[in-house]
Amino acid sequence: MLSQSTPQEIEPPEDSTVVGTGKGGVGKSTVAAHLAGQSAADGHRTLLVCVTGQDDDDLGIKRHGRGTHPPGAPTIDGEGLYRAIHDRTPLQPIREVRPNLDVLPGGPKVAELANLLMLRMMQEGPAVVLSLARALAPIAPLYDRIVFDSAPESDSLEQLVLASARTLIVPTRSDVSSINGMERISRNFMAVKQQVNPHLQMAGAFLYGSNRSATLMHASVRRDVRQTLGDSTPILDTIVGYREVPARNARKKGLLFSEYAELLPQSATPADVKAGRATDADIVPDSIVPLAKEMRELNQEITEFCRRAA
Ligand SMILES: Nc1ncnc2c1ncn2[C@@H]1O[C@H](COP(=O)(O)OP(=O)(O)OP(=O)(O)O)[C@@H](O)[C@H]1O
Ligand SMILES: [Mg+2]
Repeated sequence: MLSQSTPQEIEPPEDSTVVGTGKGGVGKSTVAAHLAGQSAADGHRTLLVCVTGQDDDDLGIKRHGRGTHPPGAPTIDGEGLYRAIHDRTPLQPIREVRPNLDVLPGGPKVAELANLLMLRMMQEGPAVVLSLARALAPIAPLYDRIVFDSAPESDSLEQLVLASARTLIVPTRSDVSSINGMERISRNFMAVKQQVNPHLQMAGAFLYGSNRSATLMHASVRRDVRQTLGDSTPILDTIVGYREVPARNARKKGLLFSEYAELLPQSATPADVKAGRATDADIVPDSIVPLAKEMRELNQEITEFCRRAA
């Protein structure tokens, strides 16, 4: 979307962070939901904006009916986000999905945004990249912190979120295609910073969902990250382990890892399942405890790195 001419600038909210990289399935949505959830649990008024074509519903908004929807047309499935940008009106989030946490959910309608923006760009020029920043500006003062989840499949959607935030935090997995996926966010980061959002800063990168004891491999990934994002890129120490079962179960239940861990004392046992008193879904795996702990540590470190960068 961006070209040579410079559109008018909109200063992003003071504490606003994009979780983004150009590769799918590396943990962006999981980390964005937990970062926002932790911030809200710490007492900060927080907004999560999911500029993603698929709604993973980590917070149980759709499947479990959490939060208070704004009156009028639907907000889920990316409809609210699309409508605000299409109609040039302020964002109207779903309120109190958790205490202190409001959310603009993503979903299929967000994918249509890319076409809308392309069409508008022909008439209005590169200023369309500020469409989300403009829709956010009237409500941004209501929040202490704003977290953006982003889509890996589209340059224009990546540019849209980068134009609205002050910091970028980049998750990656250890495989080569995840490392390559950082090249796209890096390109879009530079274009947005140079042309529409000079406030944008790289807060850092982190390895997500990895074997925590594979330290040699971690060192090699850090070298790859710096080669892709630049030598001065801060790299976080916390590594959240690969723990598929509790991560999958928590998302299915629309619970954050810390919330799911609280169910452990009431967990069913395999004997209960065998006796027909419970189902597999009622067993809470012990591995949720380290997963919740590692995620809490990661969120703290991300917050620290974002503050430093901003
Ligand atoms: N620590 C973990 N260990 C294992 N699996 C995990 C962990 N955290 C999240 N997952 C699972 O990994 C998958 C991808 O995570 P997620 O949806 O957060 O990635 P994403 O980068 O947002 O993907 P997309 O690009 O498709 O939006 C999901 O099924 C999620 O439940
Ligand atoms: Mg996602």
